[in-house]
Amino acid sequence: KIVVLDFGSQYNQLIARRVREMGVYSELKSHKMSAAEIRKDSEIKGIIFSGGPNSVYDESAFKIDNEIFQLGLPILGICYGMQLMAQELGGEVVSCEHAEYGKAEIEITGDTALLEGMEHRQQVWMSHGDQVGRAPQGFQVDAATSTCPIVMMSDQKRKFYAIQFHPEVRHTVHGNDMLKNFVFGVCHAKNNWSMQSFIEMQMKLIQDQVKDDEVLCALSGGVDSAVVAALLHKAIGDKLTCMFVDHGLLRMNEAESVVDTFKGRFGMKLIKIDAKALFLGKLKGVSDPEEKRKIIGTEFIRVFEAESQKLTTIKWLAQGTLYTDVIESGTETAQKIKSHHNVGGLPEDMQFQLIEPLNTLFKDEVRELGSLLGLPDEIVHRQPFPGPGLAIRVLGEVTEEKLDLVRRSDAILREEIANAGLDKEIWQYFTALPDMRSVGVMGDQRTYDYTVGIRAVTSIDGMTADWARIPYEVLDRISRRIVNEIKGINRVVYDCTSKPPATIEWE
Ligand code: XMP
Repeated sequence: KIVVLDFGSQYNQLIARRVREMGVYSELKSHKMSAAEIRKDSEIKGIIFSGGPNSVYDESAFKIDNEIFQLGLPILGICYGMQLMAQELGGEVVSCEHAEYGKAEIEITGDTALLEGMEHRQQVWMSHGDQVGRAPQGFQVDAATSTCPIVMMSDQKRKFYAIQFHPEVRHTVHGNDMLKNFVFGVCHAKNNWSMQSFIEMQMKLIQDQVKDDEVLCALSGGVDSAVVAALLHKAIGDKLTCMFVDHGLLRMNEAESVVDTFKGRFGMKLIKIDAKALFLGKLKGVSDPEEKRKIIGTEFIRVFEAESQKLTTIKWLAQGTLYTDVIESGTETAQKIKSHHNVGGLPEDMQFQLIEPLNTLFKDEVRELGSLLGLPDEIVHRQPFPGPGLAIRVLGEVTEEKLDLVRRSDAILREEIANAGLDKEIWQYFTALPDMRSVGVMGDQRTYDYTVGIRAVTSIDGMTADWARIPYEVLDRISRRIVNEIKGINRVVYDCTSKPPATIEWE
């Protein structure tokens, strides 16, 4: 096992993840972890200090238990971690004339286990305002850039290594090799970890945590809550109850597929709440997007609270919070980017204790876990879907009739995208129904019907997006099918705006 001590960089969990990809278990721990705690865990073969937003000279700068340097364990300091190592061991940290962000080229002069098999010049990714001005006693300088004379340093006797750039990001071309050299060449860790061992470890943790208590899990139909439910079911079987609130704003066959999978295939205890009429009633006459969102969010919480209060024997609530949700909401060390709304925006003052077994994982790791747990592809590879559902894809007032148009056109779009083999390439695709009608001609008849908009984007994380270049022939097929098969639609348009300036959803 390799522990990564967290000094607040947005990349810190990525370091742990890179090590796990090598087949070695790694976890992120608070920088407050003491030398005594580390000593107690004989599995720990090495320590990595992450980067962080502070300067070591800041009053609130994160410190470390200096005893850690006496443990005899290899240590790799990255960015802030390097500067902290330098300062704690008697070197000197200086402020750079110009903060440096982006690509840089290093020239390697050292010959250490970390640099085994490395080319002498290589591209790295820098992001720093301070740097080491003088290496501590016992250290040698291993590499430099044109602006940073000590970009790598090491004390091979004590197995301390330090890197100013970020080996965990892909722009550092050989960063992964350096991490590998540290994990295997320096720490001699064994590669015996896999997602299967994550399942076993989490099962044991969950069993120890909840003991004989019962657990509730809110299913949304999305990947994260589905994987949590499958994992909990494997760990505690019948002591898990899932609750699925069908607000009537899901896509074609989605509610059925949730019930089929969890109740049918897995045999889980599933309470399905049919709240379609309730939600449609609340949305009647409302056309403002924000108001629609608020109504749906609030109503969802009300229904969930009312229903869960009936389950008096349940003590725990399981949530599919991912690492990215945790980091974006801010942690003890990382800065807050945006508030994260947990599954369905459930309130924090509920009478349950929380279990969040996925909160160290990234989305693609969760998908891998889901597949291993036997979840079907349509759930594991499901595209992102907004909490307020189709209500924000029916522009203006939501009615059953309009929901039906958007649902059916969306089903055709999805089918044709899959037929064209584009479903893995396009990040998110759906139809939206603008609140407008236009004139058309069908047969010899004038029509005055709705328009459907196709939205398809490529993206990494939904923060920015580009419109997908769907081939004309595919668009043509989709358009013909929608107009021919769905009465009430006589025109199809394609949204060719990126985000920004548009957003992905239309409301
Ligand atoms: P926008 O429209 O903001 O969407 O560009 C970015 C991504 O977020 C999804 N989205 C939501 N997801 N609750 C969610 O869980 C919401 O209220 C919500 N609004 C948008 C959207 O589908 C896209 O993937």
